[in-house]
Amino acid sequence: MEAESRRTCRQGQFTAERTWLYLCGIVGFTGNREAQEIILDCLRRLEYRGYDSAGIAIISKGRLTLKKSIGEIAVLESQLETMSGTTGIAHTRWATHGRPTTENAHPFIDCKGEYALVHNGILTNYLPLKEQLIKRGHKFTSETDSEVLVHMIEESTAPDLKSKVLSVLKQVEGSYAIAVVRKGHDEIVAARNESPLVIGIGHDENFVASDITALLKHTNEVVYLLDKEAVRITPGGVETFDLNGVAFTRAPKKISWNIEDAERSGYPHFMLKEIFEQPRAIHESLLGRLDGQEEDNFFMGQFNSIKIIGCGTSYNAGLVGKYIIEELSKIPTTTQISSEYRYSPVTESKPLVVCITQSGETADTLAAAREAKKRGCKTIAITNVLGSAITREADFVMYTRAGPEIGVAATKTFVTQLIALYLLGLKLGTIKNAISSERYREIVSEMRALPRIVQSVLNDAGTMESLAKKYKCAQSMFFIGRHLNYPTSLEGALKTKEISYIHGEGYPAGELKHGPLALLSKDTPVVAICAADHTYEKMLGNVREVTARDSPVIAIGMEGDQDLGKYAEDVFLVPKVDSLFSPVPIIVALQLFAYYLAIERGCPIDKPRNIAKTVTVE
Ligand code: F6R
Repeated sequence: MEAESRRTCRQGQFTAERTWLYLCGIVGFTGNREAQEIILDCLRRLEYRGYDSAGIAIISKGRLTLKKSIGEIAVLESQLETMSGTTGIAHTRWATHGRPTTENAHPFIDCKGEYALVHNGILTNYLPLKEQLIKRGHKFTSETDSEVLVHMIEESTAPDLKSKVLSVLKQVEGSYAIAVVRKGHDEIVAARNESPLVIGIGHDENFVASDITALLKHTNEVVYLLDKEAVRITPGGVETFDLNGVAFTRAPKKISWNIEDAERSGYPHFMLKEIFEQPRAIHESLLGRLDGQEEDNFFMGQFNSIKIIGCGTSYNAGLVGKYIIEELSKIPTTTQISSEYRYSPVTESKPLVVCITQSGETADTLAAAREAKKRGCKTIAITNVLGSAITREADFVMYTRAGPEIGVAATKTFVTQLIALYLLGLKLGTIKNAISSERYREIVSEMRALPRIVQSVLNDAGTMESLAKKYKCAQSMFFIGRHLNYPTSLEGALKTKEISYIHGEGYPAGELKHGPLALLSKDTPVVAICAADHTYEKMLGNVREVTARDSPVIAIGMEGDQDLGKYAEDVFLVPKVDSLFSPVPIIVALQLFAYYLAIERGCPIDKPRNIAKTVTVE
């Protein structure tokens, strides 16, 4: 069983590029059978990823029928009358632009009801396109970025659906996987850029989908589309071409996964899949936000200090956030665990309160947000779930765009919370004039590099797997760091304890000598975070302090380090980054360490004992 899971684990790493991040689900079918039931069945296979609304469009002789609803696919089905027809598209939506409502659910249709379209991804230049379309008389029914595409297709004078879609895609920027149908035509045109799309090949029927999982019951023969590629499928044919319309052929692949494997895209656990999705999650969270194309729209009013609140991993993100915000904006920032906030005396005069919660439903954080409002403070929520309870409590909302996180241990939501805090720090620093234009440019360029940096840590996952084999028998471990990497050590320890059941304790490295040294021995490994920054020399001192007590040190350093190997038992190096950003690659390394420790110890990784993904009790 263990060997089995390790084998698939490597398979997961192999497929990492292809399976980065799916925000929503797309399904399209054209054949000689009734489409409705087949499409709904495919769509149900995508339910495990989480979504907030769903919709379907079917082409039947001379008609285009559409049905959308919020909530589960079962709700959509209960409202559906039989829609006869052999071609159709459907979608599950995880809201990013616009609230989770029926109007914002996909598919979208044009003004004349001739075309229907589904879209995954984010169009960064949709606002000016939408304004022009409205000026030319188009009526929009949703708040989404996606709807512009279908009105642009309607306007296109190109002779057929394929050329219309290609002409529209030349005008849009951002990420997309789309599928489009047209009244009276048994064909689907689909295309992708930075959002996955796969073609399923059947007998006298063909499919498109955002995820192989959707298709496996009907076919295991697939063709992967790459960025800036498109396809036209009909019941009898598949034509693939680039965005200039130049045709190419690609041999289909046979997929050997079963449906359960496929839900995790070949990874043995959601947690590993989500760890590997982080480059993409960071990319999505930054999209449009660094170049001013998309502003998190809030006016924060008057305040002289900031208070960050959260629980667990979100609190740890807040602790990193304190350092980020103070460095970038010079605004004094304190942190507090949500459940403790109500007990703190009101000493500061109305700080801006930043509430971090990936689920947006954590009772302790909701209660703290209410308390903050009672105290007359403005609140900002940082959350991953559009329309969640915190978005109704807070004055302003910043969304992370990590996509649904299914593993109980927070990974990609933590990293994207850090991204939100960097963005918030930059914004506050700009407002307060606390950041030079040169430093601003440096930071922006460092942030743009983060997906690549994280990918490079992931490429070295095998080293963490070997380290985990070596240390799997530990009963207890310490994680130490300084400055920004003190909270990183807390988060590394939290991940380790919750999924591998090894007692992990995060500590500010300077505090070891004030008590915990008493616990160190050759059986107590210490993970020491030694980033190449102003903390380095002191961390080396702490490493020596630990090795003098015979504890093995696993040092996490940065590429180019020549010294760590002299003192530490084991060294794991991450790419060198500006010290402000060091928690990002380092936490990814620690997530992998925790994950492989849990694998070695045979733990139920995605559902650790006694803990829940969303904690709705105080
Ligand atoms: C740990 C973890 C928890 C959550 C905490 C808060 O991996 O996931 O510690 O961070 O329960 O949850 P949210 O962020 O939903 O408020």
